[in-house]
Amino acid sequence: MPLVDMRDLLQHAYRERYAVGAFDLVGLDFLEAIMAGAKATRAPVILSLAESHFEHYDFELAMAATVAAARRAAVPVAIHLDHGATLESAVRGIHLGCNGVMVDASTQVFDENIARTRAVVEMAHACGVPVEGELGYVAGVEGEDAEKHSGEVIYTVPSEAKTYVARTGVDFLAVSIGTVHGRLRGEPKLDFARLKEINQTLRLPLVIHGGTGLSDWQYRQLIEHGVTKINYYTALADAAGASIRARAAQDARAGYTGLLKDVRAAIRAEVERCIKLWGSAGRADELLKVCRSWTPVQHVIIYNVKGISDAEVEAMMARGREVLATIPGVLRVVTGRAVATEARYRFSWLVEFAHRAVIDSYRDHPLHRQFADQVFRPIAGDRISIDFDHVEAAPGPPAARARESATN
Ligand code: 13P
Repeated sequence: MPLVDMRDLLQHAYRERYAVGAFDLVGLDFLEAIMAGAKATRAPVILSLAESHFEHYDFELAMAATVAAARRAAVPVAIHLDHGATLESAVRGIHLGCNGVMVDASTQVFDENIARTRAVVEMAHACGVPVEGELGYVAGVEGEDAEKHSGEVIYTVPSEAKTYVARTGVDFLAVSIGTVHGRLRGEPKLDFARLKEINQTLRLPLVIHGGTGLSDWQYRQLIEHGVTKINYYTALADAAGASIRARAAQDARAGYTGLLKDVRAAIRAEVERCIKLWGSAGRADELLKVCRSWTPVQHVIIYNVKGISDAEVEAMMARGREVLATIPGVLRVVTGRAVATEARYRFSWLVEFAHRAVIDSYRDHPLHRQFADQVFRPIAGDRISIDFDHVEAAPGPPAARARESATN
């Protein structure tokens, strides 16, 4: 059950005072290195995919690999959409397998931030997915020099944070207390008094963006005052870049794989350093006991039709695949026809839900109601419908485990 409910993960971190690394990945090397680092230190980890990075990779393809990596892991993992800009971003993230989403409306005025965040929370909670909101503004761009993006940092105001959390219903809050995204020249000055007040006011897991470049003491202070998730990217990208440059200097004729040879080890070393520093090393076993596993549900219908031709059934299935897959929390829609013509039931739907919560929200969703009441049920009176929990061997099939230990 290595894919776990992020609420349980961060609540545990909050109670026990440590932070889980939310490492942004931009490719397979990052994914494998982060997972190897978590595995070697027996630590939980959050695989984070930032919308601002989607220009560098195909989000859908990356999610397929990310979900596969999480499912075969032996340590607790959550998959998070980082800095989703819109409701549609969050719906897409959940559809592709994220079990936590961030809505970043922090550049909007207070009421607009609340309205946009609230809309994401309503949708995501109906899918069982927790939401991170942001109040205040963390300037800078991940992976770049902070000085080049010196937009004004807007500090989170504790009293506003209280209103924001109450009105939006977010599960975790990203706060602005002086960190910036990207590479820094000096050590930033952090407002710990402000963080302390926010923590005492909210008593909910807090998140720090712009995790790169802080001192060991600063990380300890963050955790002391309620920070349970640290977003981290620039230092990983810099470690990867330095390793590529070193290879190029050693061998001017090195090709793609030659240049990337040490990249995974370099990223992994930085991931392990953070995990140990932030207190999450060695936590995997206790967490696997207290975290709910994140398990998809298979909504299965087998049916016969009356009064329409096979060609019309095909058209109905095609429409269903298209429409039903857009309902929040649906991972995929598969339609089938019985192999044996004499089978008791001739057709099937397999609609995979992200979480049990989707059983209710899908049933009540207007698109489902319309399709079911007007298109499907009138012609498919003879049917059986059952919801199944997805059952799989933990922690992943033996073949995958063997491959994982061979590559790490
Ligand atoms: P850094 O790139 O500064 O580590 O920040 C990462 C981040 O906040 C991603 O959301």
